Amino acid sequence: MLLQIRDLTVEVAGRDVLHDVNLDIGPGEIHALFGPNGAGKTSLFMAIIGLEDYKVRKGRILFKGKDLSGMPVYERVKLGIGLFFQRPPAIRGLKLRQLLEICCREKVDIDKLVFELAMADFLDRDVNYGFSGGEVRRAELLQILALQPDLALLDEPESGVDLENIALVGRGINRLLERGMPCKDRETRAQRSAIIISHTGYILDYVDADKGHVLYNGTIVCSEEPRKILETIRKYGYEECMRCLRRT
Ligand SMILES: Nc1ncnc2c1ncn2[C@@H]1O[C@H](COP(=O)(O)OP(=O)(O)O)[C@@H](O)[C@H]1O
Ligand SMILES: [Mg+2]
Repeated sequence: MLLQIRDLTVEVAGRDVLHDVNLDIGPGEIHALFGPNGAGKTSLFMAIIGLEDYKVRKGRILFKGKDLSGMPVYERVKLGIGLFFQRPPAIRGLKLRQLLEICCREKVDIDKLVFELAMADFLDRDVNYGFSGGEVRRAELLQILALQPDLALLDEPESGVDLENIALVGRGINRLLERGMPCKDRETRAQRSAIIISHTGYILDYVDADKGHVLYNGTIVCSEEPRKILETIRKYGYEECMRCLRRT
């Protein structure tokens, strides 16, 4: 297993926002995480990446067999975890170009990525400062493509993005995860994994997820084929997830 989460309970601002979460992500697997607003999806990512406001009160997170507890954020990133923020901060005084120089892996052709994501005009601007919703998403995508993490945590990559940009972001994520590439079957492609949080599920039109989960009130209440989950949510809403849960 690449990532193992065991009985995880996380406290934020004096309140448990996640409880008893269990999740396994294998090498090369893409998991979709659904759930209503406020369910705790973003908090789960914050706990994995190790932001200090998100305190692990119980349980463990293992990545590549290493226990992440007490490990600072930069060590986790070095170990191979990358986060695409739902709402990244604007950083005054730091140019996007400087940030890319810090996070770019040697083998990455950054000029090509900048061209493909039409980000050339943003390189000498402060990170995210005054960027539109779509521009923020493209900047996040550029950073995570430069970083090439073994586990990509993608927090609502399609939210607030128009259709044209969804296609662009979708293709970028496919490339990051090396999905949809010709001549690369499951055995030969790189073993990059991801968790994709999606409120709407639109991103699944572009990225083929292997497994799906529903997070509700801070815990995973359902693990199913992602298309099946999406169909149910679109038809009946998250209420149906709870009805289904009550039946079991
Ligand atoms: N830094 C924080 N301080 C206080 N409360 C927080 C913080 N982060 C998250 N929460 C609370 O935790 C709950 C889950 O939030 P979040 O993980 O962002 O949900 P989701 O991403 O599923 O919409 C919400 O009630 C939210 O207000
Ligand atoms: Mg969120």
